[in-house]
Amino acid sequence: TRIYREGVYGRKPAVPVDPERLRRAARSAMSRRGWNYLQGSAGTESTASANRAAFERYRIVPSMLRDVSSRRLGVELFGRELPIPLLLAPIGVLELVHPQGDLAVAHAAADSGVPVMLSTQASWSMERVAEAAPRAPRWFQLYWSSDDELVTSMVHRAERSGCEAIVVTLDTHVLGWRPRDLDAGFLPFAHGQGIAQYTADPVFASLVRRRLKHPMSSPAPRPTPQALRALWSMSRNHPGSLLGNLRSPYPRAAVETFLEVFSRSSLTWHELDFVRQRTNLPIVLKGLQRPDDARRALDAGVDGVVVSNHGGRQIDGALGALEALPGIVAEVDGRIPVLFDSGVRTGADVFKALALGATAVGIGRPYAYGLAAAGARGVRSVLEHLGAELDITMALAGSADVAELGPAALTRLDG
Ligand code: FNR
Repeated sequence: TRIYREGVYGRKPAVPVDPERLRRAARSAMSRRGWNYLQGSAGTESTASANRAAFERYRIVPSMLRDVSSRRLGVELFGRELPIPLLLAPIGVLELVHPQGDLAVAHAAADSGVPVMLSTQASWSMERVAEAAPRAPRWFQLYWSSDDELVTSMVHRAERSGCEAIVVTLDTHVLGWRPRDLDAGFLPFAHGQGIAQYTADPVFASLVRRRLKHPMSSPAPRPTPQALRALWSMSRNHPGSLLGNLRSPYPRAAVETFLEVFSRSSLTWHELDFVRQRTNLPIVLKGLQRPDDARRALDAGVDGVVVSNHGGRQIDGALGALEALPGIVAEVDGRIPVLFDSGVRTGADVFKALALGATAVGIGRPYAYGLAAAGARGVRSVLEHLGAELDITMALAGSADVAELGPAALTRLDG
Protein backbone atom coordinates (compact mmCIF):
# COMPACT_ATOMS: atom_id res chain seq x y z
CA THR A 1 0.00 0.00 0.00
CA ARG A 2 2.90 2.35 0.68
CA ILE A 3 4.04 1.93 -2.92
CA TYR A 4 0.53 2.72 -4.12
CA ARG A 5 0.29 5.77 -1.88
CA GLU A 6 3.55 7.14 -3.23
CA GLY A 7 2.22 6.59 -6.74
CA VAL A 8 -0.91 8.50 -5.86
CA TYR A 9 1.23 11.44 -4.76
CA GLY A 10 3.14 11.26 -8.00
CA ARG A 11 6.39 9.90 -6.56
CA LYS A 12 8.19 7.48 -8.79
CA PRO A 13 9.81 4.34 -7.41
CA ALA A 14 13.63 4.11 -7.22
CA VAL A 15 13.64 1.62 -10.08
CA PRO A 16 10.86 0.73 -12.53
CA VAL A 17 8.15 -1.59 -11.25
CA ASP A 18 7.61 -3.03 -14.72
CA PRO A 19 10.05 -5.94 -15.24
CA GLU A 20 10.87 -5.04 -18.82
CA ARG A 21 11.50 -1.38 -18.01
CA LEU A 22 13.65 -2.49 -15.07
CA ARG A 23 15.68 -4.69 -17.41
CA ARG A 24 16.18 -1.81 -19.82
CA ALA A 25 17.19 0.55 -17.02
CA ALA A 26 19.87 -1.94 -15.99
CA ARG A 27 21.07 -2.40 -19.51
CA SER A 28 21.59 1.29 -20.06
CA ALA A 29 23.52 1.55 -16.77
CA MET A 30 25.94 -1.26 -17.60
CA SER A 31 28.92 -1.89 -19.86
CA ARG A 32 28.13 -4.06 -22.86
CA ARG A 33 30.44 -6.76 -21.56
CA GLY A 34 28.84 -6.73 -18.13
CA TRP A 35 25.38 -6.79 -19.66
CA ASN A 36 26.16 -9.78 -21.84
CA TYR A 37 27.53 -11.64 -18.86
CA LEU A 38 24.45 -10.87 -16.74
CA GLN A 39 21.85 -11.40 -19.39
CA GLY A 40 23.42 -14.28 -21.28
CA SER A 41 22.12 -17.82 -21.08
CA ALA A 42 23.26 -21.10 -22.57
CA GLY A 43 23.25 -21.75 -26.33
CA THR A 44 20.27 -20.27 -28.14
CA GLU A 45 18.91 -19.16 -24.75
CA SER A 46 15.90 -21.42 -25.23
CA THR A 47 15.97 -22.56 -21.60
CA ALA A 48 15.70 -18.98 -20.39
CA SER A 49 12.64 -18.60 -22.65
CA ALA A 50 11.24 -21.91 -21.39
CA ASN A 51 11.54 -20.59 -17.84
CA ARG A 52 9.23 -17.73 -18.75
CA ALA A 53 6.90 -19.91 -20.83
CA ALA A 54 6.42 -22.24 -17.85
CA PHE A 55 5.18 -19.32 -15.75
CA GLU A 56 2.81 -18.30 -18.54
CA ARG A 57 1.38 -21.79 -18.70
CA TYR A 58 0.24 -21.77 -15.10
CA ARG A 59 -2.66 -19.36 -14.50
CA ILE A 60 -4.06 -18.14 -11.22
CA VAL A 61 -7.71 -18.95 -10.42
CA PRO A 62 -9.02 -16.68 -7.63
CA SER A 63 -11.47 -17.55 -4.85
CA MET A 64 -14.03 -14.92 -3.77
CA LEU A 65 -15.39 -13.78 -0.43
CA ARG A 66 -12.56 -15.02 1.75
CA ASP A 67 -11.51 -12.85 4.64
CA VAL A 68 -8.14 -11.62 3.41
CA SER A 69 -8.09 -8.43 5.47
CA SER A 70 -4.88 -9.47 7.21
CA ARG A 71 -2.32 -11.43 5.29
CA ARG A 72 0.78 -13.36 6.26
CA LEU A 73 3.69 -13.39 3.84
CA GLY A 74 6.37 -14.56 6.25
CA VAL A 75 7.89 -18.03 6.31
CA GLU A 76 10.28 -19.79 8.63
CA LEU A 77 13.41 -21.18 7.07
CA PHE A 78 16.30 -22.86 8.90
CA GLY A 79 15.31 -21.26 12.17
CA ARG A 80 14.91 -17.74 10.84
CA GLU A 81 11.67 -15.89 10.25
CA LEU A 82 11.67 -14.28 6.80
CA PRO A 83 9.30 -11.31 6.37
CA ILE A 84 8.64 -12.27 2.76
CA PRO A 85 9.21 -15.63 1.08
CA LEU A 86 12.05 -14.41 -1.11
CA LEU A 87 15.75 -15.16 -1.43
CA LEU A 88 18.56 -13.39 -3.25
CA ALA A 89 20.05 -16.16 -5.41
CA PRO A 90 23.84 -16.25 -5.70
CA ILE A 91 25.26 -14.16 -8.52
CA GLY A 92 28.97 -14.13 -9.21
CA VAL A 93 31.13 -11.26 -10.44
CA LEU A 94 28.77 -8.51 -9.27
CA GLU A 95 31.58 -6.01 -9.79
CA LEU A 96 30.48 -6.11 -13.42
CA VAL A 97 27.03 -4.94 -12.37
CA HIS A 98 27.81 -2.20 -9.85
CA PRO A 99 30.97 -0.88 -8.16
CA GLN A 100 29.52 -1.80 -4.73
CA GLY A 101 28.45 -5.28 -5.91
CA ASP A 102 27.97 -7.82 -3.13
CA LEU A 103 28.28 -5.14 -0.45
CA ALA A 104 25.27 -3.25 -1.80
CA VAL A 105 23.26 -6.44 -2.12
CA ALA A 106 24.09 -7.36 1.47
CA HIS A 107 22.93 -3.93 2.67
CA ALA A 108 19.61 -4.52 0.91
CA ALA A 109 19.43 -7.98 2.51
CA ALA A 110 19.99 -6.44 5.94
CA ASP A 111 17.30 -3.82 5.37
CA SER A 112 14.71 -6.24 4.03
CA GLY A 113 15.48 -9.39 6.05
CA VAL A 114 15.78 -11.38 2.83
CA PRO A 115 18.72 -13.83 2.91
CA VAL A 116 21.47 -13.32 0.37
CA MET A 117 23.40 -16.32 -0.94
CA LEU A 118 27.01 -15.18 -1.29
CA SER A 119 28.56 -16.74 -4.36
CA THR A 120 31.84 -18.63 -4.46
CA GLN A 121 32.44 -16.34 -7.44
CA ALA A 122 31.69 -13.19 -5.47
CA SER A 123 33.59 -9.96 -6.02
CA TRP A 124 33.92 -9.34 -2.27
CA SER A 125 34.89 -12.02 0.24
CA MET A 126 32.32 -13.31 2.71
CA GLU A 127 34.38 -11.76 5.55
CA ARG A 128 34.29 -8.36 3.88
CA VAL A 129 30.53 -8.64 3.37
CA ALA A 130 30.04 -9.70 7.00
CA GLU A 131 32.00 -6.66 8.12
CA ALA A 132 30.02 -4.30 5.89
CA ALA A 133 26.55 -5.70 6.65
CA PRO A 134 26.71 -7.86 9.78
CA ARG A 135 22.91 -7.90 10.12
CA ALA A 136 22.32 -9.27 6.64
CA PRO A 137 21.03 -12.86 6.68
CA ARG A 138 23.76 -14.60 4.71
CA TRP A 139 24.11 -18.06 3.21
CA PHE A 140 27.25 -19.24 1.45
CA GLN A 141 26.98 -20.80 -2.00
CA LEU A 142 29.72 -23.34 -2.61
CA TYR A 143 31.18 -24.41 -5.90
CA TRP A 144 32.86 -27.65 -4.94
CA SER A 145 36.54 -27.19 -5.70
CA SER A 146 38.78 -29.94 -6.99
CA ASP A 147 40.89 -29.27 -3.89
CA ASP A 148 39.53 -30.85 -0.68
CA GLU A 149 41.36 -28.47 1.60
CA LEU A 150 39.94 -25.47 -0.19
CA VAL A 151 36.41 -26.86 0.16
CA THR A 152 36.99 -27.34 3.88
CA SER A 153 38.48 -23.89 4.26
CA MET A 154 35.59 -22.15 2.50
CA VAL A 155 32.99 -24.01 4.54
CA HIS A 156 34.76 -23.11 7.78
CA ARG A 157 35.12 -19.48 6.73
CA ALA A 158 31.40 -19.39 5.94
CA GLU A 159 30.65 -20.67 9.43
CA ARG A 160 33.04 -18.25 11.10
CA SER A 161 31.80 -15.24 9.16
CA GLY A 162 28.21 -15.84 10.20
CA CYS A 163 26.65 -17.57 7.20
CA GLU A 164 23.54 -19.50 8.17
CA ALA A 165 23.51 -22.21 5.50
CA ILE A 166 25.76 -23.80 2.88
CA VAL A 167 24.22 -23.97 -0.58
CA VAL A 168 26.06 -26.47 -2.77
CA THR A 169 25.43 -25.66 -6.42
CA LEU A 170 25.42 -28.88 -8.44
CA ASP A 171 24.66 -27.67 -11.94
CA THR A 172 27.89 -25.79 -12.69
CA HIS A 173 30.74 -28.28 -12.37
CA VAL A 174 31.42 -27.20 -15.95
CA LEU A 175 30.62 -23.69 -17.12
CA GLY A 176 27.70 -23.59 -19.61
CA TRP A 177 28.12 -22.83 -23.31
CA ARG A 178 27.40 -19.10 -23.35
CA PRO A 179 27.69 -17.62 -26.82
CA ARG A 180 27.48 -13.98 -25.71
CA ASP A 181 30.58 -14.33 -23.55
CA LEU A 182 32.34 -16.64 -25.98
CA ASP A 183 31.84 -14.26 -28.90
CA ALA A 184 33.14 -11.39 -26.80
CA GLY A 185 36.14 -13.54 -25.79
CA PHE A 186 35.20 -12.81 -22.21
CA LEU A 187 35.62 -15.07 -19.20
CA PRO A 188 35.67 -12.75 -16.17
CA PHE A 189 37.53 -15.23 -13.97
CA ALA A 190 40.37 -15.45 -16.44
CA HIS A 191 40.94 -11.76 -15.81
CA GLY A 192 40.89 -12.15 -12.09
CA GLN A 193 37.32 -10.90 -11.61
CA GLY A 194 34.96 -12.76 -9.30
CA ILE A 195 37.70 -14.54 -7.41
CA ALA A 196 37.59 -12.62 -4.12
CA GLN A 197 36.52 -15.69 -2.09
CA TYR A 198 39.70 -17.34 -3.31
CA THR A 199 42.09 -14.45 -2.87
CA ALA A 200 40.94 -14.13 0.76
CA ASP A 201 41.60 -17.81 1.41
CA PRO A 202 44.78 -19.06 3.12
CA VAL A 203 44.56 -22.49 1.49
CA PHE A 204 44.25 -20.86 -1.92
CA ALA A 205 47.27 -18.68 -1.16
CA SER A 206 49.34 -21.75 -0.44
CA LEU A 207 48.17 -23.37 -3.68
CA VAL A 208 49.31 -20.26 -5.55
CA ARG A 209 52.68 -20.33 -3.83
CA ARG A 210 53.09 -23.95 -4.79
CA ARG A 211 52.18 -23.07 -8.34
CA LEU A 212 54.79 -20.31 -8.45
CA LYS A 213 57.49 -22.92 -7.94
CA HIS A 214 56.47 -24.68 -11.14
CA PRO A 215 56.67 -23.29 -14.65
CA MET A 216 53.25 -22.38 -15.95
CA SER A 217 51.64 -24.57 -18.57
CA SER A 218 50.05 -21.76 -20.53
CA PRO A 219 50.04 -18.17 -19.38
CA ALA A 220 46.69 -16.87 -18.16
CA PRO A 221 45.25 -13.76 -19.81
CA ARG A 222 46.29 -10.47 -18.31
CA PRO A 223 44.13 -9.53 -15.31
CA THR A 224 42.14 -6.28 -15.50
CA PRO A 225 43.51 -3.31 -13.51
CA GLN A 226 40.84 -3.77 -10.82
CA ALA A 227 41.57 -7.45 -10.53
CA LEU A 228 45.29 -6.71 -10.40
CA ARG A 229 44.74 -4.45 -7.42
CA ALA A 230 42.78 -7.19 -5.65
CA LEU A 231 45.39 -9.80 -6.46
CA TRP A 232 48.08 -7.47 -5.23
CA SER A 233 46.53 -6.90 -1.89
CA MET A 234 46.14 -10.65 -1.65
CA SER A 235 49.80 -11.24 -2.30
CA ARG A 236 50.67 -8.55 0.27
CA ASN A 237 48.51 -10.27 2.84
CA HIS A 238 50.20 -13.56 2.24
CA PRO A 239 53.91 -12.95 2.67
CA GLY A 240 56.16 -15.50 1.15
CA SER A 241 54.72 -14.91 -2.28
CA LEU A 242 56.67 -13.00 -4.83
CA LEU A 243 55.64 -9.42 -4.90
CA GLY A 244 56.10 -5.83 -4.95
CA ASN A 245 56.19 -4.76 -8.56
CA LEU A 246 53.98 -4.88 -11.58
CA ARG A 247 55.91 -7.68 -13.12
CA SER A 248 55.11 -10.01 -10.24
CA PRO A 249 54.04 -13.41 -11.54
CA TYR A 250 51.69 -13.71 -8.56
CA PRO A 251 48.47 -12.42 -10.16
CA ARG A 252 48.79 -14.71 -13.14
CA ALA A 253 49.62 -17.65 -10.95
CA ALA A 254 46.53 -16.87 -8.86
CA VAL A 255 44.31 -16.75 -11.94
CA GLU A 256 45.78 -20.00 -13.25
CA THR A 257 45.34 -21.67 -9.89
CA PHE A 258 41.73 -20.53 -9.77
CA LEU A 259 40.99 -21.93 -13.21
CA GLU A 260 42.50 -25.20 -12.07
CA VAL A 261 40.70 -25.64 -8.76
CA PHE A 262 37.33 -24.01 -9.60
CA SER A 263 35.31 -27.20 -9.83
CA ARG A 264 35.21 -30.93 -9.58
CA SER A 265 33.15 -32.59 -12.27
CA SER A 266 33.90 -36.05 -10.89
CA LEU A 267 31.74 -35.29 -7.83
CA THR A 268 29.12 -37.90 -6.92
CA TRP A 269 26.38 -38.28 -4.32
CA HIS A 270 28.63 -40.25 -1.94
CA GLU A 271 30.93 -37.28 -1.48
CA LEU A 272 28.29 -34.97 -0.03
CA ASP A 273 29.10 -36.43 3.33
CA PHE A 274 32.44 -34.63 3.16
CA VAL A 275 30.72 -31.30 3.73
CA ARG A 276 28.24 -32.76 6.21
CA GLN A 277 31.15 -33.86 8.39
CA ARG A 278 32.67 -30.42 8.32
CA THR A 279 29.75 -28.25 9.34
CA ASN A 280 26.60 -28.24 11.39
CA LEU A 281 25.03 -25.59 9.20
CA PRO A 282 22.03 -26.58 7.10
CA ILE A 283 23.15 -27.93 3.71
CA VAL A 284 21.07 -27.04 0.69
CA LEU A 285 21.56 -28.51 -2.80
CA LYS A 286 20.95 -26.08 -5.63
CA GLY A 287 20.20 -27.03 -9.20
CA LEU A 288 17.92 -30.06 -8.97
CA GLN A 289 15.41 -30.75 -11.74
CA ARG A 290 14.52 -34.43 -11.32
CA PRO A 291 12.45 -36.25 -8.71
CA ASP A 292 14.97 -39.11 -8.57
CA ASP A 293 17.70 -36.62 -7.70
CA ALA A 294 15.44 -35.19 -5.01
CA ARG A 295 15.14 -38.71 -3.61
CA ARG A 296 18.96 -39.00 -3.57
CA ALA A 297 19.16 -35.65 -1.84
CA LEU A 298 16.80 -36.92 0.87
CA ASP A 299 18.85 -40.10 1.20
CA ALA A 300 21.97 -37.98 1.56
CA GLY A 301 20.34 -36.23 4.50
CA VAL A 302 20.52 -32.66 3.22
CA ASP A 303 18.38 -29.94 4.76
CA GLY A 304 16.89 -28.36 1.66
CA VAL A 305 16.95 -28.28 -2.14
CA VAL A 306 16.66 -25.53 -4.72
CA VAL A 307 14.83 -26.47 -7.90
CA SER A 308 16.68 -24.37 -10.47
CA ASN A 309 18.24 -24.48 -13.92
CA HIS A 310 20.60 -21.62 -13.10
CA GLY A 311 18.40 -19.13 -14.90
CA GLY A 312 18.90 -21.06 -18.16
CA ARG A 313 22.64 -20.38 -18.17
CA GLN A 314 23.85 -23.98 -18.11
CA ILE A 315 21.95 -26.28 -20.51
CA ASP A 316 20.28 -25.04 -23.66
CA GLY A 317 17.11 -26.96 -24.54
CA ALA A 318 16.19 -27.78 -20.94
CA LEU A 319 12.82 -27.78 -19.24
CA GLY A 320 11.35 -24.56 -17.90
CA ALA A 321 12.38 -24.79 -14.24
CA LEU A 322 8.84 -24.30 -12.91
CA GLU A 323 7.79 -27.49 -14.75
CA ALA A 324 10.26 -29.42 -12.60
CA LEU A 325 8.87 -28.11 -9.33
CA PRO A 326 5.68 -30.17 -8.79
CA GLY A 327 7.44 -33.54 -9.28
CA ILE A 328 10.15 -32.65 -6.80
CA VAL A 329 7.66 -31.27 -4.28
CA ALA A 330 5.74 -34.55 -4.52
CA GLU A 331 8.90 -36.61 -4.01
CA VAL A 332 10.10 -34.56 -1.04
CA ASP A 333 6.62 -34.62 0.48
CA GLY A 334 7.22 -31.92 3.07
CA ARG A 335 10.30 -33.51 4.66
CA ILE A 336 12.64 -30.62 3.82
CA PRO A 337 12.06 -27.18 2.32
CA VAL A 338 11.93 -27.08 -1.47
CA LEU A 339 13.14 -23.71 -2.73
CA PHE A 340 12.85 -22.49 -6.28
CA ASP A 341 14.51 -20.07 -8.71
CA SER A 342 14.82 -19.43 -12.46
CA GLY A 343 12.57 -17.09 -14.39
CA VAL A 344 10.78 -15.33 -11.51
CA ARG A 345 10.02 -11.77 -12.57
CA THR A 346 6.82 -10.68 -10.79
CA GLY A 347 4.89 -11.12 -7.57
CA ALA A 348 2.41 -13.24 -9.50
CA ASP A 349 5.30 -15.54 -10.48
CA VAL A 350 6.26 -15.83 -6.82
CA PHE A 351 2.63 -16.71 -6.04
CA LYS A 352 2.67 -19.48 -8.67
CA ALA A 353 5.90 -21.04 -7.41
CA LEU A 354 4.63 -20.96 -3.82
CA ALA A 355 1.30 -22.47 -4.92
CA LEU A 356 3.23 -25.31 -6.58
CA GLY A 357 4.90 -26.06 -3.28
CA ALA A 358 8.02 -23.93 -2.97
CA THR A 359 8.74 -22.77 0.58
CA ALA A 360 10.51 -19.65 -0.66
CA VAL A 361 11.49 -18.30 -4.04
CA GLY A 362 14.86 -17.02 -5.27
CA ILE A 363 15.43 -14.23 -7.73
CA GLY A 364 18.61 -13.74 -9.72
CA ARG A 365 18.70 -11.26 -12.57
CA PRO A 366 15.88 -9.02 -11.30
CA TYR A 367 17.84 -7.90 -8.24
CA ALA A 368 20.97 -7.53 -10.32
CA TYR A 369 18.97 -5.20 -12.57
CA GLY A 370 17.96 -3.20 -9.50
CA LEU A 371 21.60 -3.13 -8.41
CA ALA A 372 22.77 -1.88 -11.79
CA ALA A 373 20.11 0.82 -11.91
CA ALA A 374 20.25 2.15 -8.34
CA GLY A 375 22.70 0.22 -6.11
CA ALA A 376 21.50 -1.07 -2.74
CA ARG A 377 18.37 1.07 -3.01
CA GLY A 378 17.55 -0.57 -6.32
CA VAL A 379 17.87 -4.07 -4.85
CA ARG A 380 15.66 -3.06 -1.94
CA SER A 381 13.07 -1.63 -4.32
CA VAL A 382 12.96 -4.79 -6.40
CA LEU A 383 12.30 -6.83 -3.25
CA GLU A 384 9.64 -4.38 -2.11
CA HIS A 385 7.90 -4.47 -5.46
CA LEU A 386 7.85 -8.26 -5.58
CA GLY A 387 6.62 -8.45 -1.97
CA ALA A 388 3.89 -5.86 -2.58
CA GLU A 389 2.67 -7.50 -5.77
CA LEU A 390 2.66 -10.89 -4.06
CA ASP A 391 0.61 -9.39 -1.22
CA ILE A 392 -1.93 -7.89 -3.63
CA THR A 393 -2.09 -11.07 -5.69
CA MET A 394 -2.79 -13.11 -2.56
CA ALA A 395 -5.55 -10.74 -1.51
CA LEU A 396 -7.17 -10.87 -4.93
CA ALA A 397 -6.80 -14.64 -5.21
CA GLY A 398 -8.43 -15.12 -1.79
CA SER A 399 -5.34 -16.35 0.08
CA ALA A 400 -4.49 -14.93 3.51
CA ASP A 401 -1.38 -16.97 4.28
CA VAL A 402 1.51 -18.07 2.05
CA ALA A 403 1.69 -21.30 4.04
CA GLU A 404 -1.78 -22.21 2.84
CA LEU A 405 -1.16 -21.64 -0.84
CA GLY A 406 -1.65 -24.78 -2.87
CA PRO A 407 -2.12 -26.02 -6.43
CA ALA A 408 -5.88 -25.38 -6.16
CA ALA A 409 -5.07 -21.70 -6.73
CA LEU A 410 -3.73 -22.54 -10.21
CA THR A 411 -4.72 -24.13 -13.45
CA ARG A 412 -2.32 -25.32 -16.11
CA LEU A 413 -2.89 -24.59 -19.77
CA ASP A 414 -2.06 -27.35 -22.26
CA GLY A 415 0.88 -27.23 -24.61
C1 FNR B 1 24.06 -16.79 -11.63
N1 FNR B 1 23.74 -17.93 -10.88
C2 FNR B 1 24.67 -18.45 -10.00
N2 FNR B 1 24.34 -19.53 -9.23
C3 FNR B 1 25.22 -20.03 -8.34
O1 FNR B 1 24.90 -20.99 -7.67
N3 FNR B 1 26.46 -19.44 -8.21
C4 FNR B 1 26.84 -18.39 -8.95
O2 FNR B 1 27.96 -17.89 -8.79
C5 FNR B 1 25.94 -17.88 -9.89
N4 FNR B 1 26.29 -16.83 -10.69
C6 FNR B 1 25.35 -16.25 -11.53
C7 FNR B 1 25.70 -15.14 -12.28
C8 FNR B 1 24.73 -14.53 -13.08
C9 FNR B 1 25.12 -13.30 -13.86
C10 FNR B 1 23.42 -15.04 -13.13
C11 FNR B 1 22.36 -14.36 -13.95
C12 FNR B 1 23.09 -16.15 -12.42
C13 FNR B 1 22.38 -18.51 -10.95
C14 FNR B 1 21.45 -17.83 -9.96
O3 FNR B 1 21.80 -18.16 -8.65
C15 FNR B 1 19.99 -18.25 -10.17
O4 FNR B 1 19.90 -19.64 -10.22
C16 FNR B 1 19.40 -17.67 -11.46
O5 FNR B 1 19.86 -16.37 -11.69
C17 FNR B 1 17.88 -17.65 -11.35
O6 FNR B 1 17.31 -17.27 -12.54
P1 FNR B 1 16.82 -15.79 -12.89
O7 FNR B 1 16.10 -15.25 -11.67
O8 FNR B 1 18.07 -15.01 -13.21
O9 FNR B 1 15.94 -16.00 -14.06
